[in-house]
Amino acid sequence: MAAADSQGSAETVFDGRAATYSNHTWHIRYAERLVELAAPTAGMRILDAATGTGLAAIAAARAVGPTGQVVGVDISAGMLARARQAIDAAGLTTIELVRADATTLPQFGDGSFDLVLCSAGLLYLPVQAALGEWRRLLAPGGQIGFSTMAAGFPVAARIFRDHARRHGLALTDPATALGTRTRCHRALRDAGFTPAKQVGETIRFSSRDLEHAWEAHTRGPHHDAIATLTLEQVEMFQRDYTETLADLLRTDADHLLTSEVIYAFGGG
Ligand SMILES: C[S@@+](CC[C@H](N)C(=O)[O-])C[C@H]1O[C@@H](n2cnc3c(N)ncnc32)[C@H](O)[C@@H]1O
Repeated sequence: MAAADSQGSAETVFDGRAATYSNHTWHIRYAERLVELAAPTAGMRILDAATGTGLAAIAAARAVGPTGQVVGVDISAGMLARARQAIDAAGLTTIELVRADATTLPQFGDGSFDLVLCSAGLLYLPVQAALGEWRRLLAPGGQIGFSTMAAGFPVAARIFRDHARRHGLALTDPATALGTRTRCHRALRDAGFTPAKQVGETIRFSSRDLEHAWEAHTRGPHHDAIATLTLEQVEMFQRDYTETLADLLRTDADHLLTSEVIYAFGGG
């Protein structure tokens, strides 16, 4: 798929998810944890790439205080509209929102930021293009931090791909590029950063988060592949998938609802 097409679909997908995105509390915990581990200090200039509804940007703005500046960039106008509402509701005046492709930000000069954050965003971006651009934007001595699911997580997504295979679709795990500590280290190094700490933790989903699993997967990065199935195949796929999730929720909820994640950091 061409880059422009993939951006177009990310934009459409997230415009559609914007209204309910922040209702899933794991998104909030995941984004705030990245900021907490990055530990920004007063007065810093921060880029929050693929800011979405602004969860990390808001936490970062609180950390850097009134002398700091945060820029949140996202491709989805719908997500940015929600970010604007949340920022205004929080009474924060130091966050600028920019609608743009986070991999190409010529409006910002070299070394514009002391910290670049990307929470749960790199799976939608060409990793080296994104990291390369953020390397340019990072001031000497600055820090980059991103989060990623470990390869094979979330479990509900792995089960989705397993079911898809039975219907003849070979779907790739979007966490593949960065899904291990070694891959995070290598990606940072290849983009010219000095790899620094990595923190491996788990994130717990609620059973409510799973209610939208089918829609999230079928409208997400695998949308084009699903669209090749007949209506009958899609209905069978959906039934099998939702039944499997419901069974697993009854028999092994801990396994189904717990996801391994990695927070990776590098120096400029
Ligand atoms: C899973 S959300 C993460 C949002 C936020 N960082 C968080 O932690 O909640 C991924 C975000 O990436 C954005 N995105 C996807 N491709 C993008 C691109 N090329 N440039 C900027 N944002 C992009 C989507 O619009 C979406 O808001």
